[in-house]
Amino acid sequence: MNQDSVHNERPARRLTSAFVAAGLTMAVAGGFAALTATSSSAATTPGCTAVYSTTWDSGSGFGAQVVITNNGPAWTSWNLTYAYAGNQALQSGWNGTWTQSGKNVSVASLSWNGAVASGGSVTPAANFTYSGTNAAPTSFAVNGVTCSGTVPPTTPSTGPTTTPSTTPTTTPTTTPTTTPTTPSTTPTTTPSSGGGGHVVNPFVGASQYLSPDYTGEVNTQVAADQGANPTLAASEAKMAGYQTAVWMDRIAAITGTGDTVHHGLQWHLDQALAQQKPNTPIVFEVVIYDLPGRDCAALASNGEIPATAAGLTQYESQYIDPIATILANPKYAGIRVVAVIEPDSLPNAVTNQSKPACQTATPFYETGVEYALNKLHAISNVYNYVDIAHSAWLGWSSNMGPAAQEFAKVAKATTAGVASVDGFISDTANYTPTTEPFLPNSTLQVGGNPLDSAKFYQYNPYFDEYSYDQAMYTQLTGQGFSPNIGMLIDTSRNGWGGPSRPTALNSSPTTVDSYVAANKVDQRSFRGDWCNQNGAGIGARPTVQPYGASNHIIAFVWIKPPGESDGDYPSASHSHGDPHCDPAGTNTDGNGGTYSTGSIPGYDVPAGQWFAAEFQQEVTNAYPAM
Ligand code: BGC
Repeated sequence: MNQDSVHNERPARRLTSAFVAAGLTMAVAGGFAALTATSSSAATTPGCTAVYSTTWDSGSGFGAQVVITNNGPAWTSWNLTYAYAGNQALQSGWNGTWTQSGKNVSVASLSWNGAVASGGSVTPAANFTYSGTNAAPTSFAVNGVTCSGTVPPTTPSTGPTTTPSTTPTTTPTTTPTTTPTTPSTTPTTTPSSGGGGHVVNPFVGASQYLSPDYTGEVNTQVAADQGANPTLAASEAKMAGYQTAVWMDRIAAITGTGDTVHHGLQWHLDQALAQQKPNTPIVFEVVIYDLPGRDCAALASNGEIPATAAGLTQYESQYIDPIATILANPKYAGIRVVAVIEPDSLPNAVTNQSKPACQTATPFYETGVEYALNKLHAISNVYNYVDIAHSAWLGWSSNMGPAAQEFAKVAKATTAGVASVDGFISDTANYTPTTEPFLPNSTLQVGGNPLDSAKFYQYNPYFDEYSYDQAMYTQLTGQGFSPNIGMLIDTSRNGWGGPSRPTALNSSPTTVDSYVAANKVDQRSFRGDWCNQNGAGIGARPTVQPYGASNHIIAFVWIKPPGESDGDYPSASHSHGDPHCDPAGTNTDGNGGTYSTGSIPGYDVPAGQWFAAEFQQEVTNAYPAM
């Protein structure tokens, strides 16, 4: 992925620790808003406190963690015991040796976490399957001493306790004046097959697929951090409860060949079937990302397929066709497949024609996307969302209009025309905030100049994804797309929390640059920075209809799996990668400005590979907090 923004428009110039205090229950993240039931319970005595919570729950499987705190003399080893009321069945656990006998579960300490000082804690966690009711256990014992009795179980919570605080109470002045149209055919009825048919908003009424590949990456990190930083580990563990997309980033990804971490498409779809609740559709998000000459404006994610006529044939026959064949298998008809179509490609076709590689690739991008849309739209449970980059790339009017025309040109070339596109997605794998809460008006005059004249904005009137998506919606429908198109925002890493985030409007600065610097939540020095951004945090959790049923933004999604690198850079030890991922490198704005790449210092991790420090930072700086 690259997010090269060429926009030389004008001169510009501790889960507070899971256990907080003995007897307090922890708030648990519940996966997709209002869809994943979660529960927690706690128990305490002078000897020990046990706080149990479910970190995710698909209806047929769940994750559980128990934060046990030693309120007495130091332990040299511990053994936790509790019992379920239902048929919960242990699958695998970590931070302890988990065993189950009937309804009784026991967890023995490991060599490295058996010693727990007075006041210390450990957090064993495990995954289970179940059917029926998933009631939280209410009584726990450590080393035979019961922790139960003084705190009753809490009522299960049914969703994340953190609703996006970025709701548009501060509606950007740049939002369209037209009232949002309510889709005439709201998908209130779910087909009994559980997701077949083709609804307007595939996320409504559906559960979310949790990729075991991703939860595996997260859980490994949780286990690694548990000893040194149990507070961080507890926050990290929550990440396993949210859906992230599965990337088909090369032909071999379809079968999962040669990758010990990431499984193939069919495996994932079978897992999705296993996670599906009766009569409820499940959303599976897949990224289509292997065009000929991919990532033409950068070097972090160059593709395997050449930008040639033969390459296009290879893309069609060896990449799109096999994917379509798998997705079209009738056994997967109840899965709502949300396909993110070729990030960065058409945006590069619009703004990067000055780069020979993009000029060469453009016809193959256009024909390739047309082919993908045709093949995927022909499968009624597949939903196509075309990538529209982000506000800091296509926000200038000189880019936005031509971009909408380009998307329409490609869609209109398909058999079904614009109907082959269900909607669009912005901010894929980028870091641009959903809103800039203290900068709602890009034309506000400060020191006699409009805010968008600040160097950071370079006369781009769209400061955030909310305003950008609303404006893009107007442009796209103006080009003939259906009013029912849905806009998605990848909020996986656009949170920008942490100590640097402004918490209130500071209206004292008297120049546009100082005013913007004092008030923007986006902590990048340059909006064109895109690789492994230092200081970034997890953004709003995946949410269905974050602004209500009539807003064109139909869901927040996590397409880029947080913790997977954006790319590496050429170094003494290897030649691959992109200088724009080098923490010591620079980006330029096209107007003479040079900036740090903003990449996390001290690391060099290839695109798509696990990047522990990045994950830790993003969880730490999550906004809203994890
Ligand atoms: C990389 C892919 C990777 C994806 C998800 C992209 O930036 O190019 O290889 O699968 O991110 O991490």
